[in-house]
Amino acid sequence: MPTHTHPRIGILTGGGDCPGLNAVIRAVTLTARRRYGATVLGIEDGFEGLIEGRGSELTEERVAGILQDGGTILGSSNKGDPWRYPVVGQDGKTDWQDCSGRLLAQVQHWQLDGVVVVGGDGTMQMADRLQRLGVGVVGVPKTIDNDLLATDQTFGFDTATAVVSEALDRLTTTASSHHRVMVLEVMGRTAGWIALMGGVAGGADVILLPEIPFQWQAVFDKVKARAAMGMRYSIICVAEGAQLPTGGEVVQRMDRRRTDPKRLGGIGAVVAEHIEAGTGLEARVTVLGHLQRGGSPTAFDRILATRLGSHAADCICRGESGVLVAYHQMGTCTVPLSATLAGRRNVPADHDLIQAARALGTCFGDEAGSGRA
Ligand code: F6P
Repeated sequence: MPTHTHPRIGILTGGGDCPGLNAVIRAVTLTARRRYGATVLGIEDGFEGLIEGRGSELTEERVAGILQDGGTILGSSNKGDPWRYPVVGQDGKTDWQDCSGRLLAQVQHWQLDGVVVVGGDGTMQMADRLQRLGVGVVGVPKTIDNDLLATDQTFGFDTATAVVSEALDRLTTTASSHHRVMVLEVMGRTAGWIALMGGVAGGADVILLPEIPFQWQAVFDKVKARAAMGMRYSIICVAEGAQLPTGGEVVQRMDRRRTDPKRLGGIGAVVAEHIEAGTGLEARVTVLGHLQRGGSPTAFDRILATRLGSHAADCICRGESGVLVAYHQMGTCTVPLSATLAGRRNVPADHDLIQAARALGTCFGDEAGSGRA
C-alpha cells in the first residue's frame, strides 16, 4: 500500500517512442490527481531520468492538449539500462556499470510510492527487475510492432498500420503511372504485424514477413505474372525483419550503445535490386522508417492509451505492484509483469488474414513457381 495519504507516483516512458504515449501520460496524471489526490512526477528520458534525478511534477496544465500529440513530453531512451548503464570515465572512455543502487536512492529521495513504466519488452524486463528490488511498479505496454505476448494489441500499432496503408495508396498511383515495381520497407523487428495489416489495407501484391521464409523466384513469378496479365506495376510490402532466402539472415547493423544492439533496416533495397535483376522490370524502394512512429495517434490508439493509462493509475495509487495493464477481449485487465518476458507474439502462419489475402492472390513469397497474378 502507498505510504502517503495522498500517493506520490512517478511515470516514465522507455524504449522507442510511439503514438499514444502522451495520451497515457495524460490519463495517468489526471486519474491519479483527480481520483486519488496524488502527486505525479514526470521522469525524463526513461530510466536515465530515474538514475540521474531528472523529473518534475506533472500538473493538469502540463498535460492539457497533449492527447493528440505524437512522441512523449517526457522524452525516451533505449540506452538507459540501469544494470548496464554507460558511465564516461575521466579518460573519456565509456564503462558499463550497474547503477541500480543510484536508481533506488533516487526513488527514496523523491519518496515515490510507485512508478508507472510505459514501454516495450526491453523496458518491461527492467521494470520487472525494479519491482523485484522492492519498488512498486505498474507496466503499460507499448510498441508499434504489436509483438507483446501479454496484450491483445499495443497502442501505436493502429497508427503505424494507417501510415503504411496511406503510403501504399500513394505508391500505387505513381507505380501505375510509371509501370514500376514499388517496394515499401516497413518496421517490425521480429514480428510482421505492421507489414501484414498495413500491406493488406494498402492492397500490396507481395507481403514479406519475418515469420514466412520467402524465395526470390516466387516474388519474381508474381511480378511477372501481373505484367503478363496487363497489370504493369506491382506493390511489395516488406518487413524490416524479413529473412533473406540466402541463409535466413536479416539486414541489420550493430550499435553497442543500444539496449538491444541490433539496428534493422535495408532489406527494401535488397529486394528492389533482386527484382530488377530477376525480372528486368524497373523497381524503386521507399523506406518508411520513423514516419510510422511519429505524428498524431489514431482515435483507436488514443482511446486504448487512455484506458490503459487510467487503469494503471488506479493500480499504482491503490498500491498494486508487479502488474502490467493489458488489453484483452476488448477490455483492460492486469497480468503479472513477468508475462511480458515469456516471449514475443508473432504472426501465426495460418492467421485468418493471411488466408484471406492468399485467397485474394497476395503472394507471401513462399509459393515458388506458382506464377499466378
Ligand atoms: O520496436 C519498435 C521499433 O520501431 C522497431 O520496429 C524498429 O526496429 C525499432 O523500434 C527502431 O528503433 P530505433 O528508433 O531505436 O532505431
